[in-house]
Amino acid sequence: MSERVHYGGDYNPEQWPREVWDEDVKLMREAGVDLVTVGVFSWAQLEPREGAYTFGWLEELLDLLGSEGIGVDLATPTASPPPWLSTKYPDLLPVDSKGARYSHGSRQAICILNPTYREKARDIVSRLAAAVGGHRALRMWHVHNEYACHVPYCYCARHAGAFREWLKRRYASLEELNQAWGTTFWSQTYTDWDEVVAPRMTATFVNPGLDLDYKRFSSDAFLEEFREEREILKRARPDLPVTTNFMGFFKPLDYFRWAAELDVVSTDNYSDPANPDWAMESAMHYDLVRGLNKRVPWMVMEQASSRVNWRPHNSAKRPGEMRAMSYQAVARGASSVLFFQWRASRAGAEKFHSAMLPHAGTSSPVWADVAALGKELEDLDGLQGLAVQAKVAMLFSWPNWWAVEAPAQPANDLRLADQLRWLYQPLYQSGVTVDFCSPDEPLDNYEVVLVPSLYLLSEEQGVRLASYVERGGTVVTSFWSGIVDEHDAVRLGPYGGPLRVIMGCDVLEICPLPPSEPVQLQWEDGHVSAASYWADIATESGGRVLAYVADGPWSGRPLVFETTYGKGRSYYLGTKLDASGLSWIYEQVPALRAWHGFGTTGQGVERVVRASSSRTYEFLINYAPQRRTVQVAPGGFDILGQAEVGERVTLPPAGVAIIRRPGARQFA
Ligand code: GLA
Repeated sequence: MSERVHYGGDYNPEQWPREVWDEDVKLMREAGVDLVTVGVFSWAQLEPREGAYTFGWLEELLDLLGSEGIGVDLATPTASPPPWLSTKYPDLLPVDSKGARYSHGSRQAICILNPTYREKARDIVSRLAAAVGGHRALRMWHVHNEYACHVPYCYCARHAGAFREWLKRRYASLEELNQAWGTTFWSQTYTDWDEVVAPRMTATFVNPGLDLDYKRFSSDAFLEEFREEREILKRARPDLPVTTNFMGFFKPLDYFRWAAELDVVSTDNYSDPANPDWAMESAMHYDLVRGLNKRVPWMVMEQASSRVNWRPHNSAKRPGEMRAMSYQAVARGASSVLFFQWRASRAGAEKFHSAMLPHAGTSSPVWADVAALGKELEDLDGLQGLAVQAKVAMLFSWPNWWAVEAPAQPANDLRLADQLRWLYQPLYQSGVTVDFCSPDEPLDNYEVVLVPSLYLLSEEQGVRLASYVERGGTVVTSFWSGIVDEHDAVRLGPYGGPLRVIMGCDVLEICPLPPSEPVQLQWEDGHVSAASYWADIATESGGRVLAYVADGPWSGRPLVFETTYGKGRSYYLGTKLDASGLSWIYEQVPALRAWHGFGTTGQGVERVVRASSSRTYEFLINYAPQRRTVQVAPGGFDILGQAEVGERVTLPPAGVAIIRRPGARQFA
């Protein structure tokens, strides 16, 4: 594909008469569109009856798009099987945890392990590849759509059987499985593999080991189907990159495992404009997606031009926000900015979802913004080879997410995303960029690693993190980390397992605090701050106490520790520090210190730097409802404003500046 930031969206022309296509393509040109996703919902048009195929309309469409220079991300239609398929083969519909079968009438009602579904999916994908795979308009393949979005778990008998086979590969014997899941408790010991079931509705807490492995298995089951489609497409066109669209922090699929199999990672971002922190939520989403596979590019496959239609109340993006948020994606490394969908539907489930071309047509202000941004992006070049600059990593893993939020925990209201936000927010607000990393990847490129509630980690992952500190890295770990092994079995002794060497303390007990009982902390340098939610009962062990509880029943207990281990340093937070406590910790670590440019006037401005060895692009985006002025290094050129910049840049609300400077990587 060419090097510009690609612009466009899902194009579902099967909804419209042929003459509308000509207008679509003309308007796409006007809006600077160069990439559209076609075919996501086309199965019923491609195979209207079993075994009867109609690819002519698609060829005509591809010809039309190709002749206007619009590239196509061609989707396989397997996320939305037509009604004839499930009517004839009803057992391809999924089964819920109460044993009820879903019906068709919407989309994604699929048991991913059903052999008929798989055969029909392979068939339509092969025929699609054979019919149009060689078309010159094709730029990439888009497999399925948002795997597992609506039905992440199927509990049918076939799934139970496949789960048992998956377990037999994971555990050498049933005894080993019994051991791993701790089945001697509650008299759950299995004596035959056939007794192991999918975690359907049961009387109370399901065994956590069973629950965790079912989540791993289900993510793998979808992945296996993805691989099957990918192989067919790769055989037809080995030169085309393959993606499938992710959904950022989507819990059911382990995207680190998935991303390793993609040529391009792509994501759909529908952060809620009604959330006061939505720009940060969106930044975190992009930092995660960028981190999933650091060897390949990533793209925004879908966003909304204004509102969605699936929340209870669908707030519209305010004027300028769609543009600002699109630049946020580019700032954080996206190679494309695409939308769902090109033309607003007249009918069907998404008719009130915003689109690039709204119901009112080109007189809509949304269209004006969409077209203006497309034109602007068309002219924006020079971004190739620019890597997002981040010296800070945040560790995240899906098995940890599943386990730490499983039922029957000390704090069942603990949401991992809240713990991430707590550590991420001050950095986001102060212009420090974070890369999300899996605990399995090398961390030596980072100066600091943040470890929010990494409750589940393997011995190997823990040892890797400790040795990163030993070699000179800095780690900030928050409470409820290192507690269990990969089977969710508690590590005995003081809590922390392989992380104990970098915690500087022995955590002997844990103490979730009542919501109405925060604690005061007395810091070693004399200042005080507040903490809440959680308090470890810990004693010093090799570390230095930075803060004690200063009031209430836990008075005198040490809660924050600093340790040196080998050449590195480590901070352990045994409680949820308030903003001032956390910034005190961050102040100790150069890579976490706020970007100086904000001064007192930059609040609400997002800053990200992309750089190569020869040039630096500094992105500044103002989300505040007022003008904001930030101080920047002199000698830059704002490529959007087409003007030299001095030492200060003033941005209107929703304003964006991209400051280009010659020279190698700069962070400051
Ligand atoms: C998802 C889907 C799209 C559409 C949008 C609406 O991202 O992939 O098909 O339904 O949601 O927000």
